[in-house]
Amino acid sequence: MHLKEKVLAALLAAKGEYCSGAEIADTLHVTRTSVWKAIEQLRLQGCEIDAVRNKGYRLVTAPDIYNQEHMQSLLKNTMWQVQHFSELDSTNRLAKEIAPNAPSGTVILADRQTSGRGRLGKQFHSPTGGLYFSVIIRPDLPLSSMMGVTACTATAVHTALEETGVYTRIKWVNDLMLNGKKICGILSEGSFNAELLKMDYLVIGIGINLSPDPCLPDELKSIITDIQSETGIKLDRFQILADILRSMEFYFAHINTLNYLQNYTEHSYTLGNRVRTDKGIEGLAVGFTKEAGLIIRLDDETDYILTTGSAQIINKEK
Ligand code: BTN
Repeated sequence: MHLKEKVLAALLAAKGEYCSGAEIADTLHVTRTSVWKAIEQLRLQGCEIDAVRNKGYRLVTAPDIYNQEHMQSLLKNTMWQVQHFSELDSTNRLAKEIAPNAPSGTVILADRQTSGRGRLGKQFHSPTGGLYFSVIIRPDLPLSSMMGVTACTATAVHTALEETGVYTRIKWVNDLMLNGKKICGILSEGSFNAELLKMDYLVIGIGINLSPDPCLPDELKSIITDIQSETGIKLDRFQILADILRSMEFYFAHINTLNYLQNYTEHSYTLGNRVRTDKGIEGLAVGFTKEAGLIIRLDDETDYILTTGSAQIINKEK
């Protein structure tokens, strides 16, 4: 790691308080002049840093630059290890490639994706300014829990966002909605061990629109939005990543007890609405099975369980 990254990590750790140049120099075993040079480089990169005699340096604003040391400190005492890339075709694609030999808890993070993947073969538009990552985990779960994995992840993301003041609702099975438009999608993929009849590893990809995308195509503007436009809240990409990963670790530790289902149900965007599946089946969304399948009450009062595909809400405008 470059000295400037270590200095930035020290300033970030001080959380907006002053940090003396001598202290930073001592901790990093370098001279005060080297610290000063690193501060100048950080300023050139767009960091706003105050310098006051006898007090030291204070980070006022930092551009959205990844810092490994800072990320590690945000994830202290968790199972997660982040690998960062400024650009990837798809974090899920790379995660699946390395998953057979990667430890559980590996996280692939990209600043942007050139071929972000969505569910059902769709594309996920992933410009700079959003949060795009995939986690590799090896939970002890049967194949039937695949829908539950996505629902559990949606609950974990919902909870982390709610704690920052962003209240989303969950559209079955994997979309987080804000004011009726999508701000987050989740794509779970896995490898199944046919001998042991359980999952070998899971790759769960999460994409969140944090800030406005100036290139969002007109036809998507009525269905897709971002957190900043809807709430005015500008989330710190790395802090919210850490919050989500902590929340996922918590929910996944108890996934077999179905602890997520209550929250998933409580914050559902789908329940209580008339829906139509991609196979044309229509009815009222009345609940979830313990595998997170959607229970649709048909007009003849029988129940149909939807376990794959999608369900459009047809009695709401969006
Ligand atoms: C969907 O809404 O259909 C799912 C979208 C999932 C997008 C995320 S972004 C990070 C990860 N990498 C991908 O290529 N896709 C997922």
